[in-house]
Amino acid sequence: MTSEAEQIKQRTRDIFDLVASGYDNPAQRFFPFCADRMIQLINLQPGEKVLDIATGTGMAAIAAAQRVIPDGRVHGIDLSENMLAKAKFNCDKHALDNVDLHLMDAEQLIFRSNYFDVITCGFGLFFLPDMTAALQQWLRVLKPGGRLIFTSFTQNAFMPYAQQFRQGIEQLGVVLPTNTAWQRLVETATCQQLVTSAGFVDVQSQVAQMGYHLASENDWWELISNSGFRRFLDMLNTEQQLQFREQHLAEIAQQKGKDGLWLDVEVIFTQARKAN
Ligand SMILES: C[S@@+](CC[C@H](N)C(=O)[O-])C[C@H]1O[C@@H](n2cnc3c(N)ncnc32)[C@H](O)[C@@H]1O
Repeated sequence: MTSEAEQIKQRTRDIFDLVASGYDNPAQRFFPFCADRMIQLINLQPGEKVLDIATGTGMAAIAAAQRVIPDGRVHGIDLSENMLAKAKFNCDKHALDNVDLHLMDAEQLIFRSNYFDVITCGFGLFFLPDMTAALQQWLRVLKPGGRLIFTSFTQNAFMPYAQQFRQGIEQLGVVLPTNTAWQRLVETATCQQLVTSAGFVDVQSQVAQMGYHLASENDWWELISNSGFRRFLDMLNTEQQLQFREQHLAEIAQQKGKDGLWLDVEVIFTQARKAN
């Protein structure tokens, strides 16, 4: 692995270790909503073996585990120890005994070939430095005929607030990277080309609006403080953060309607299969 790839992973690990305790907050309920939809779409059967890559706090792993009982098993992997600790807590809360959690890099799977019936990955693929190489590994561990489903955001997700967030930070003199991780998979064509180039077949994507209303600008703050946005927030020093919070939330509050703040969460669900 190149040192640049290692740096990206370290940064990702640090951010998710930091946000793990607040990740399962109601403002971010699109994560469990999307996990549930992903599990519905992939049509799990009792007894199947599932690998949930970048499992985070385990939402998809838990939904999958409930579907594959009594004999099926789910393995959830993640790079962040703190996210996995939350996943363990959530599995225990649901009294599940068919989920195994592992600290493991999605680009270096330590599973035997042709083992899993299904791979799921919610909002994790775009973090990987070499997405094609990762998908080739995922293909290796799937059984012939095994299914893959993953999610990514479209360009519309979190707009216009995400743009206002970026502009607000840059107005304080901090230059943000032009392309953030999730912008790598905002087009269905890109998602499909990627999995096809890695060797999957029967590739299809569908776009769904998974958004809802946030009660107030404070919910938006919860979201940016407890998700991947946090990386950019932390580029400001303490004084700048206070200033930014006041200005940004005033701007967001102006957009509130009678139902609150509409949170656009347009999501691509991409599915594919390993050839028989
Ligand atoms: C946005 S969260 C999504 C978590 C969960 N799948 C969900 O939908 O709520 C992204 C997750 O990807 C994990 N991740 C990022 N890069 C990874 C890698 N190389 N290997 C394993 N996990 C990774 C992060 O630690 C984080 O938990």
